[in-house]
Amino acid sequence: MPTTSSLTIDHEGLGIPAGSYALPSRGAVDHLGEDTHGRFTEHFAGRLPLAALTAAEAAFLREYFFDQFADRRQRSLEYFGRNVPLRFRDATHDERAAAWAREVASDPHTARSVLVLGPTGTGKTHWAYGALRAVGHAGAWMPWKAVTEADLYARLRPRPGHDSEARFEEIARTQLLFLDDLGAAKPSEWAEEVIYRLVNYRYDHCLPSLFASNLTPKSLPDTLGARVASRLTQMCERIALKGDDLRLTRGQA
Ligand SMILES: Nc1ncnc2c1ncn2[C@@H]1O[C@H](COP(=O)(O)OP(=O)(O)OP(=O)(O)O)[C@@H](O)[C@H]1O
Ligand SMILES: [Mg+2]
Repeated sequence: MPTTSSLTIDHEGLGIPAGSYALPSRGAVDHLGEDTHGRFTEHFAGRLPLAALTAAEAAFLREYFFDQFADRRQRSLEYFGRNVPLRFRDATHDERAAAWAREVASDPHTARSVLVLGPTGTGKTHWAYGALRAVGHAGAWMPWKAVTEADLYARLRPRPGHDSEARFEEIARTQLLFLDDLGAAKPSEWAEEVIYRLVNYRYDHCLPSLFASNLTPKSLPDTLGARVASRLTQMCERIALKGDDLRLTRGQA
C-alpha cells in the first residue's frame, strides 16, 4: 500500500478537507478485521467505493485522516503565533483569504499566488498575515517567510563574509513567501535583478506567494520591469483593497 496519496482518498465522502494524507499501515488496521487491509488497498486504488466499506472501516479512515489534519493545523497555527509580527498577531481573514488558503492546503503547486494592491494603510499587510493564518486553519503545515522588499535588499546586499546567494536561495525556496511593500524600495539595476530572480524562481517552481504593493496595476511594469509584471499577472489572483488610511481613521497605538 502506498504511504501517501492525494488522488486516491475520497475527501468529500469522508468529510475531510482536501490535501494529502498518509495512508494507514497494515498494523494500524489489523484490529478492524482480516480483510480490512485488502479492502483499503482496493479502495485507495479506486476499485472499491467508500460505500462498500463497513461503517467501522469508514469511521476509522475518517478519524485517521482527521487526526493528521488536526496535527498539521495545530503545528501551523503555533508557527504563525511564533513568527507573526506583534501588530498583526490578531490579523483576521475574509472568505477570499480562506478560499485561497484551502487551495494552498489542497495542492500548493496548483494554487495561485496573490497580489494584494491598495493605497497606504488600507490593510494589505493585515490581509496577507490573515491569509497566512488561514493556511494554518485549512490544515496545511507550511513554514512561511515574510519580508519587505527593502529588508530583502538589506539582507542580500553583497558584503565580505556574507553568502548572499545562500540567503537568496533560502528565501526563494521557502514553501510559502510573503513579500511586502513590493515596488516601494529604492530602485537600482541590482534590485531589479534580485526581484526578477525571486519572482521568476517562485514562478518557475510553482511556489505559492503573497505579494503586497501600493502600486497601481498600470504602474507595475514601469516600476518592477515588464518581465516581473508579466509573471505576477499570470501567477497571481489580485486582491484590491480600497478606502481610507486605517491608521488615521482607527487611531490605534
Ligand atoms: N481588517 C482589519 N481589521 C482590523 N485592523 C486592521 C484591518 N486591516 C488593517 N488593520 C490595521 O490598520 C492598520 C493599517 O493596516 P496595514 O498595515 O495592513 O496597511 P497597509 O495597506 O499594509 O499599509 P502600507 O501600504 O503603508 O504598508 C494596521 O494598524 C492594521 O493593524
Ligand atoms: Mg503594509
